[in-house]
Amino acid sequence: MVGDGVIGSYVDGLVGRGVVRSAGVERAFRRVPRHRFVERFWVGRDSAHEVGADGWSAEALGLVYSDEALITRRDAEGNPTSSASQPSVVAMMLEALDLGPGMRVLEIGAGTGYNAALMAEVVGDQRLVTTIDIDPDVVAQTRGLLARAGYGAVEVVCGDGALGHAASAPFDRVVATVGCSDISWGWVEQMNPDGLLLVPLDHGGSHPLVKLRVGSTGRVAGRIVGWTGFMRMRGDLETAGPWALRPPDVGDRAPDAVRPLFPALERALADSPAGADAEAEWWRMPSAWYDFHFFACLCDERAYRGPEGLGLVDEAGTRAALIRRDGVQVWGGSGLYEELETAYRRWERLGAPALSSWRIEVVPRGTGIPESRGSEEVFVVERGRSRQVVRKKGREERAE
Ligand SMILES: C[S@@+](CC[C@H](N)C(=O)[O-])C[C@H]1O[C@@H](n2cnc3c(N)ncnc32)[C@H](O)[C@@H]1O
Repeated sequence: MVGDGVIGSYVDGLVGRGVVRSAGVERAFRRVPRHRFVERFWVGRDSAHEVGADGWSAEALGLVYSDEALITRRDAEGNPTSSASQPSVVAMMLEALDLGPGMRVLEIGAGTGYNAALMAEVVGDQRLVTTIDIDPDVVAQTRGLLARAGYGAVEVVCGDGALGHAASAPFDRVVATVGCSDISWGWVEQMNPDGLLLVPLDHGGSHPLVKLRVGSTGRVAGRIVGWTGFMRMRGDLETAGPWALRPPDVGDRAPDAVRPLFPALERALADSPAGADAEAEWWRMPSAWYDFHFFACLCDERAYRGPEGLGLVDEAGTRAALIRRDGVQVWGGSGLYEELETAYRRWERLGAPALSSWRIEVVPRGTGIPESRGSEEVFVVERGRSRQVVRKKGREERAE
């Protein structure tokens, strides 16, 4: 038996961190017990926690009601293939979806069913929620978990989410809870006019959360509303992005040179409360670091980020220029460093745009984009089925 207090403090934490903001989402989190949606999980590389005949141990319950992703499936190499996502990311995405009572919603990536149950609470009718997972084993378990938790009328479909689910369309919202290398035009076709598509869209190995409105003319445009790191989608949409994502192959070799940190990144670090923690991984860096990484990926397909730092790595992996807290480390001559610096200067000239400063439009691959010619502010990312046009927002669009 899990007391209301445990769930209460968990939700208070999400509200306190500002990720749960609306009454509908808060109510949903208070009503849906997360521990009913997992039977066995891992946090990081720790050993598995399993629910027993007497329920969960106090330690496991503490993890279930913390801000941790709960890994529920792994492949033969131990890499996660299914999970209950980190609660603050779940909350951020639910808020970004602008769900309301009576809306019909499609989720790609059913996982444990926890998010589907939360969405059912927000829209007020379980029958309005369809969730798809590609893994039959996950689907069988999740159908059972949803039914036992009282959400048996949520539709759980087994299949490749890239196809959407025409039988239950049209949808007001389509949300992917798995990292996508592209959008699917099936999702766009199955959407009501003025519907919203929320996709963690691969960008140099991370997943900025892209919120796109599907206009009545079929125009698909929007902006970035957050930064996430999801497991990658399998199936038909599993195509490689334009980025090489080549890890540096420098072994224990000391860098040939260490150049000073770029000024805006240095200032951001000095202003950050985590500034003193020299061991912090790059993803705990101040937001300006993510903003620059996003931009570097627009400029150069050799853009890389990883535990070694962020910057550029050449195809062979032997030349690299990587930004770290203590400066820019350079291997194999100054060429890549100069290119990285050129990208930095360009970003600075544009006013060091944040993630929210870009307007995103997605058009079918092959569509011409006349406004991109010769412009410093427009970039095109070629994906499997679409071209993503990324344009710095004008002054009048800033408040959006
Ligand atoms: C992070 S989990 C989803 C979390 C889930 N929303 C929850 O509330 O627990 C990602 C899921 O996406 C599924 N997945 C991967 N590729 C898929 C595809 N092409 N179509 C549908 N599901 C897919 C995985 O099997 C995995 O269960």
